[in-house]
Order: sequence, then structure tokens, then C-alpha cells
Amino acid sequence: MRIIIFGPQGAGKGTQAGKLVEETGAAHIATGDLVREEIKKGSELGEKIQEYNDKGELVPDEIIIEMTKPHLDKHDGWILDGFPRNQAQAKALDEALEEIDEKVDRVIALEASDEDLVKRLSGRRQSEATGKTYHIEHDPPPEDSDEDAGPFVQRDDDTEEAIRKRLETYHEETEPLKDYYEEQGILVTVDASQGIDEVTKEVMKAVGEDK
Ligand code: AP5
Repeated sequence: MRIIIFGPQGAGKGTQAGKLVEETGAAHIATGDLVREEIKKGSELGEKIQEYNDKGELVPDEIIIEMTKPHLDKHDGWILDGFPRNQAQAKALDEALEEIDEKVDRVIALEASDEDLVKRLSGRRQSEATGKTYHIEHDPPPEDSDEDAGPFVQRDDDTEEAIRKRLETYHEETEPLKDYYEEQGILVTVDASQGIDEVTKEVMKAVGEDK
């Protein structure tokens, strides 16, 4: 299946994409991870996009589309996380999929209030060893270093200022895409203010994996 996991910053896109990957074996394509990998490499492109990332601004469309496109036909099934985020990206995705005679099967929109999201993101920690995401209260990093050695660090864009900027951009540019996918009859909304396991149950149901 080709699934878009959609929603505001901190709604749990990365968390739920991880569960879907475990359950379905699909690949996880997260544009935020692609951005951070490029920054880590220290490439010329990485230097150019770091400023956008750290301020919580969207990387320009032509750059993010070029970075994402090659991943779309590499796998039979994928969970696309963080893309598209505006009309131009949604159009570019449709065109890229048309070229390979494919389409998006389902869009899962996670929904939660901004205040919940700011709290969640302030407690987020990411493992430098595995890239896995945790939360200091809701999903603490493991103490056993065989499971994940860490260190568990805070992302550069998880400052309150950058989080509020990212949410503002989400409401203005990204959220309207829900109508676009609803019109195509492939949108399923999930209340993401529930606990992680409750959200996972609804997400699995949305993709027919609720055994
Ligand atoms: P990206 O990495 O995609 O960041 P984001 O959209 O800000 O999304 P997040 O990763 O912050 O949130 P999430 O929904 O994945 O939440 P998570 O599962 O971690 O993008 C980063 C940057 O890259 C952008 O700002 C931009 O510059 C650039 N970029 C990326 N894509 C782009 C594009 N298409 N166009 C242009 N630029 C682009 O969960 C958050 C926390 O909450 C975790 O700690 C988790 O453990 C916890 N949690 C999760 N679910 C629950 C729950 N149900 N209850 C309690 N806690 C929970």
C-alpha cells in the first residue's frame, strides 16, 4: 500500500509510521529525516537547507521535491511522512506517481490541539544511534543499551519559537490538503490526542490491519 501519514508537527506521524512499518513491512519515507540526513552530511545543499529547518520554515518546494522523488519508485509499498505540505507538493506527488502508474491508497490525518502538540514536542527525544523517537513521559527511551544505545537528544527545531512557527505554517499551507484528499475519497481522520496505543489501533483499522 502507498500511505500518506498526515498531520501537524508532533501529532505522531513518525511514531505511527514506525508502527505501520513494523506491521506492514512497507518502507518509511520521512522528508524531515531526508532533510536532517543532508544537514548531517555537511553538503552544500545541507548548509542551504539547515537555516530553514532550524527556524521551523519549509524547505523550498523544488529542493524537497527533488529530494523525495527518487524514493517513490524504490519500494513496492511506502508510508510517506511529512510530504506533501502544500498544493505544489501534492501536485508534484500526483505527477510523479502517474509517471510510474501508481497512486496513493490512503491518507491518514492525525488531529490534535496546538497546545497538546507544543507539550509533546518539548518532551521529544531522538536516538542518535537509531533515529527512533521517544518522549520523556509518554514513551521514555529504554534503559537497556542493547535495545537502543542513544544518546537521546533534542532536535534543533524543537524550540518553542520554531514549534509555533511550524504549526502556523501547517494551518495555513498544509491543513487545506485534507479537503483535496477527502474529495478523492481516500482520507481517514484519527483523533491523535489519545494515547499512542489507542491511536495505533485506529491507524491499523484505517489501513485494514486491525486483526
Ligand atoms: P519533520 O521531521 O517532518 O518535522 P515535523 O513535521 O515538524 O513533524 P515532527 O517530526 O515534529 O512530528 P511528528 O508528527 O512526526 O511527531 P512524532 O511522532 O515525532 O520536518 C522537519 C523540517 O524539515 C521541517 O520543519 C522543514 O524545514 C523540513 N521539511 C520536511 N518535509 C518538508 C516538506 N515536505 N516541504 C518543505 N520542508 C520540509 O511525535 C512527537 C512527540 O510526541 C514524540 O516525542 C512522541 O514520542 C510523542 N507522541 C507521539 N504520539 C503520542 C501520543 N499519542 N501521545 C503522547 N505522546 C505522543
